[in-house]
Amino acid sequence: MSSLTDVHAHVLTQAQQRIQQDLLTALDAFSIPEPLKGAVHHTVMLGGKRIRPALCYATAAIKPNAHSAAVRRAAVAIEMIHCYSLAHDDLPCMDNDLLRRGQPTCHVAFGEDTALLAGDILQSMAFEILGSRLFDQGPAVDSAIVLKQMQILATASSKMVCGQVLDLQAEGQHVNQQALENIHRNKTGALISAAVMMAAVTVFEGTDQAIPKLREYAQAIGLAFQVQDDILDIISDTAVLGKTAGKDQQVDKSTYPALMGLDNAQAYAKELHDQALNALTIFGDNAVELNQISQFLLSRKS
Ligand code: IPE
Ligand code: IPE
Ligand code: MG
Ligand code: MG
Ligand code: MG
Repeated sequence: MSSLTDVHAHVLTQAQQRIQQDLLTALDAFSIPEPLKGAVHHTVMLGGKRIRPALCYATAAIKPNAHSAAVRRAAVAIEMIHCYSLAHDDLPCMDNDLLRRGQPTCHVAFGEDTALLAGDILQSMAFEILGSRLFDQGPAVDSAIVLKQMQILATASSKMVCGQVLDLQAEGQHVNQQALENIHRNKTGALISAAVMMAAVTVFEGTDQAIPKLREYAQAIGLAFQVQDDILDIISDTAVLGKTAGKDQQVDKSTYPALMGLDNAQAYAKELHDQALNALTIFGDNAVELNQISQFLLSRKS
């Protein structure tokens, strides 16, 4: 019999299959010299939960038959930015990690120079994809929607970088909850929110009350996601995580478990999850996939 988590994971399994194919199609549209091509494929194609693409699809699924080319491009673009952020996050000058998604990190496999450049090119490729006609079958998507998607992604990417700077500065420091929340909302929450909002603008008008509700959902799970990442660094192990467990304590990272203790951090993740589900009530059954993703995130082990 499948467990509750398996049921929630089903929505992700479907998303993983879709995004895997679309990422490959997108990467094949670029001509990249070796060893950069190998490093990009290593960074993008090998595993990962694909939460951000799943959020794009699940948001679009609120409106039936809304899986447009613009949503598919958004899913590819957000995952490319996320993968770039991971390749850079792992560099020796950042978190100095050797293992990612159960594989050697990009710089371990390809060298620091190529890992840096793999992140760089993924960042511009993401925007090229958003502005392209990849996956279009019918008429071109309204350019106002494409522009909004680009603005959302650019703003979130800048926030991610700012969050990363604050995260590094906070190592070995005692930061209060407000400062920690600011780090988490920027370094992780911003891209998670962007995944939802880039799909939201393809199906809802700016004045629709759905937009602030989706933002509320996205911000709650975005923060919960990093709280849970910090918890898993403590309670999970390297084989399950696919990245080195216990890393945060080693370098004295500022995390929720460090600030408030493991139990309180777990309770806080649950509180944020409840907030996220509350924000979905106006959508009724149409938001079932977004609901399942939040359930999955709370119970995930990696
Ligand atoms: C890890 O993100 C980095 C954080 C923002 C905490 P994920 O946990 O989504 O990583 P993958 O994509 O599944 O490997
Ligand atoms: C990473 O946070 C956030 C980004 C990559 C932007 P972490 O440094 O905690 O992520 P992991 O634990 O290495 O995946
Ligand atoms: Mg980091
Ligand atoms: Mg890290
Ligand atoms: Mg972490």
